Amino acid sequence: MNQIIQARCEYMHAEAGGVKVFALRASDADAGFLNALQPGGHVAIRYPDFSGTPQQRLYSITRKKEPDLFEIAVKRTGHHGVSDYLHSTAKEGSIIPLQYAASTVTVASISNFHRVAMLAGGIGITLPMALIREFASLSRSGKHVPAVTLLLCFPRVGDVPFLHELLELDLTTEWFTFRVFVTREDIQACTHFQPGRPTDQSLEALQQPDAVVICGSRTFAHEFRQRVNHRFPGARLFAESFTPPPSPRESPQVSPTCARILLAETGCAIEADTRKSILENLETNNIPIRSQCRSGICGACRLRIISGNYRFEPDFCLSEGDRANGHALACCTFPKSGDITIALHATR
Ligand code: FES
Repeated sequence: MNQIIQARCEYMHAEAGGVKVFALRASDADAGFLNALQPGGHVAIRYPDFSGTPQQRLYSITRKKEPDLFEIAVKRTGHHGVSDYLHSTAKEGSIIPLQYAASTVTVASISNFHRVAMLAGGIGITLPMALIREFASLSRSGKHVPAVTLLLCFPRVGDVPFLHELLELDLTTEWFTFRVFVTREDIQACTHFQPGRPTDQSLEALQQPDAVVICGSRTFAHEFRQRVNHRFPGARLFAESFTPPPSPRESPQVSPTCARILLAETGCAIEADTRKSILENLETNNIPIRSQCRSGICGACRLRIISGNYRFEPDFCLSEGDRANGHALACCTFPKSGDITIALHATR
């Protein structure tokens, strides 16, 4: 399993929309970890929620200031989870345990495209923000960067973090432009702000991008992935989501039914909570399994289901053929009842 790195919170500041930026220094991390710390990537933090239960959560790296010093932006949700607990307890000098760093979308993966569109909803802004800052720095040093258009969706104008930075960049550079779609506030349309959600016409204004980065909740990412695929079929798509699949566990009407997960490789059997994904059930029972995004994007938790009764939530990476061959993502698959037998080491 991953070795824990103790990072120190060097400073923090508040942004709009209930967002706090924390600067963390991982001075004890090895070179492998520091190389994996890339703006646009994410870091896995192990931190308690308000009930005191330690959990793993991923946060985008919004800026890397020094080899071992980086920033994350955390939004308060009001759900008493890890993000809220970080807001309430982490301050300068606090120690924040890190599990690993990884990336799916970085500047290197999109810098060779000619025209890049970025679509972000809510705190999904953190990934584009990291990439745009990197492009700004490259551009200042005279390097070529793609033309970037950023479309943001926020409930209210006052919820947009990093707004001054984005405005300044838009007004002072040729390569960057952005629009905010304001979904829950009655505003007058102007250059940077439009009322409502992006229409097909607004997507048309993206002028045939050859790469599109989408980041937001699962619902947001699924919706815009379909619309972008339809409108720009040739564009390379990069999607990130930061919310896990919906679980029935919050519903008081749903009680767990009896199920077991059997591991084909070892013969080990565990009692399964049907309100939790296979990933969460394995972790609860200290059975090692790889994971990163926990939302069906990265494919790190791929396994094979040999038999049993289960349901899955839509994901972003398995094909129909994969599913027909029994492949599943542990983070998006929920046991239903009886015995479900899985092979952790799925071969493609
Ligand atoms: S952890 Fe990324 S797909 Fe499951």
